[in-house]
Amino acid sequence: MQASDSFSGYLSDVTFPDRFHRELSPAWLNYASVLGGASPKALDRPFRYLDLGCGFAYSTIVNAAAYPHAEFHACDLNPAHIEAASRRATRLGVRNVAFHEASFEALLERDLPAFDFIVLHGIYSWVDADVRRVVRQLVAERLAEEGLVYLSYNCQPGWSAEAPLRKLMLELAQAAPGDVEARTGSAIARMQALGTPSFRYFRDNPAVADALSALAASPLDYLAHEYLNGTWEIHYSVDVIDDMARAGLAYTGSATLADNHPTLLMDRQAAEAMAALPNARLRHLAEDFAVNRRFRRDVFVRGGRTGRSQAQALQALEEISIGCASEIERIDIRATIPRGVLSFQPEFIADLRGLMQQGSMRIGEIVGQLGGEGRNPREILQNLLFLVAGGILTPFARAGGYNAAGARRAVNASAAAALAASAADAGNAYVPSELVGNGVALGADEAAQALQWIAGDQTVPCPARLARLGVLCGT
Ligand SMILES: C[S@@+](CC[C@H](N)C(=O)[O-])C[C@H]1O[C@@H](n2cnc3c(N)ncnc32)[C@H](O)[C@@H]1O
Repeated sequence: MQASDSFSGYLSDVTFPDRFHRELSPAWLNYASVLGGASPKALDRPFRYLDLGCGFAYSTIVNAAAYPHAEFHACDLNPAHIEAASRRATRLGVRNVAFHEASFEALLERDLPAFDFIVLHGIYSWVDADVRRVVRQLVAERLAEEGLVYLSYNCQPGWSAEAPLRKLMLELAQAAPGDVEARTGSAIARMQALGTPSFRYFRDNPAVADALSALAASPLDYLAHEYLNGTWEIHYSVDVIDDMARAGLAYTGSATLADNHPTLLMDRQAAEAMAALPNARLRHLAEDFAVNRRFRRDVFVRGGRTGRSQAQALQALEEISIGCASEIERIDIRATIPRGVLSFQPEFIADLRGLMQQGSMRIGEIVGQLGGEGRNPREILQNLLFLVAGGILTPFARAGGYNAAGARRAVNASAAAALAASAADAGNAYVPSELVGNGVALGADEAAQALQWIAGDQTVPCPARLARLGVLCGT
């Protein structure tokens, strides 16, 4: 059951699910860090990006296509992951990713440049203390000044009731016959048989019964990687801050964008109790308790927050572009946020829809355009940030929109290849957009429609959303 030593205890006999994570995009990380007071990154200039433990590197390959002027590196010790990732890059015609089939330790020995971004998604809680130390050494040695690190991990107290399930699952899987996926399936079935109120643990922790149902509905390869590694450690956020401080980094925000706005997370009583705490460290920890947080997507910066005034931070935020990556109708007078539902003035939303229909804009420009009688610029700014936090608007790499280039085509070769791959695979996919600076989600039907339109089918209307998001050019 346990993987070999060469994999440092990390599971190697089943591959990880092939998933895209929008939070790993440079534009997204830039937004999160600027919100926290870090200096902005010039995303239109060459930069360097490293994905540690990339798995199939879906996000990194799409991001490489979205930033063709940047240099991407992706590292994983599982040869099956690196082979599949290289095949995907070739299929999409993406040439600016260097793949490293290597452990983090081996990567330390390689001749690498300094990186502006280092990302680790789904790594830190699933590798042992020695590997975490190597990760910190890599970050300390290879992150550029003012560079950003994205680090996701499981945190307490959100796992406090459920953590014992993992031990039960691990032991059941170790005792079962077959390969990892068969053992995982067998462990889930046995846990379900045990998960009745006759077992006091389940009776005393009703939330665990829901967790068990969710586990039973999850893919086996995901469950194997999440629960059956040699290491599975739940961290406290302040301990991770201490770890990163040893590598010379400071916390600057969360890539779970709503987590950057306490008012969207907790009620007034909780906010007052938090405010009474004597320092920022305690407030950081207490917030995890206020929302019973179980997963964090932290963004850290090297040295970039020192000496910046509030005015500079606001100016940097106003320079960032945002837009609507989904249908414009999704910009509604109500937005769901962690604490409930936010309501906006209908006239404000109508005006915002009109602007976003044209494409993405700098935040400062939107505030300027929507300002006017009876509207307070600070409130407009806050509404925009809340709409981004609620996932209605999205950070973009730059301002822009519909590209009337005079031909029916995808904007570039990698967007064309991604559309073709999505239609051929008949599944949901992410196509790169240089304008968004991220992957744009689309279904197979939308991809097929885009391809028909490109082929000149006059009965097919131009897929307006893809044109607005810089995936297609129009006539
Ligand atoms: C949970 S998966 C996450 C994959 C990817 N980051 C994602 O989120 O889709 C963890 C990945 O880290 C890799 N990994 C684990 N320990 C490693 C190590 N010491 N050196 C290099 N890669 C490692 C595994 O092979 C696996 O692909």
